[in-house]
Amino acid sequence: MISAQTFKRPSLLLELTKMLSVKRKVQDWLRSEVVDDSPNDERLFPTLKPPEGLTLWLTGLSGSGKTTIAKGVERELKERHCLVELLDGDVVRTNLSKGLSFSKEDREINIRRLGFVSNLLSRNRVVAIVAAISPYRNARDEVRQMTENFIEVYINAPLEVCEERDVKGLYAMARNGEITAFTGINDPYEEPLNPDIVCYTSEESVEESIAKVITELERLEYIPAKLRIEDLI
Ligand code: ADX
Repeated sequence: MISAQTFKRPSLLLELTKMLSVKRKVQDWLRSEVVDDSPNDERLFPTLKPPEGLTLWLTGLSGSGKTTIAKGVERELKERHCLVELLDGDVVRTNLSKGLSFSKEDREINIRRLGFVSNLLSRNRVVAIVAAISPYRNARDEVRQMTENFIEVYINAPLEVCEERDVKGLYAMARNGEITAFTGINDPYEEPLNPDIVCYTSEESVEESIAKVITELERLEYIPAKLRIEDLI
């Protein structure tokens, strides 16, 4: 417990209290005058580009939340002036991987294509976010081997939860036999053994999962930390 007796000069505590209250007033003033809490406010974020790009690979069952988290992370990174590109499985399958089936062979081709493109992007200082089921461990590991900065994010939600969400109605179709080889129902999903990040989307909120990814990227110094007004003074 700090008291006036703690210091050589008894008035120091009073001076300290005054200084802290002034600091608080200056922070409040800055917040009201300078910061409008706009995430894009240049003054709050360093204009530095990240020194390196990376591949952020989100794997998980259909309906686990890959796309939602990927979009949230993309938004956060753009606010930090990072170069970002999102490669979403559903979208990629309408162009780059159009015509591929969901056989093991074709899924592996899909993963290799995603790996090839994300590698090109990430070695050019882009944060490439991949959101694809990518059910085969070997295929994911193959991409990891060829990509310098590779972060595997396991979007982990129990099959029952994904099936209950059934956002696209595909689980019901798989159960009815209208879709064959559906991941988790009648096709395998090989969990990552040593993922860099795990988001438990049936337990965490979307924002918590996004924050988990961002915090880890900050900790690994891939991205600059968001500056708070408190850090400035
Ligand atoms: S991956 O296995 O090759 O990585 P990808 O992520 O590109 O899959 O595509 C998965 C998406 O395709 C799912 O989110 C779902 O909307 C759709 N889809 C259609 N058929 C299947 C299937 N048999 N298994 C899994 N997803 C399927």
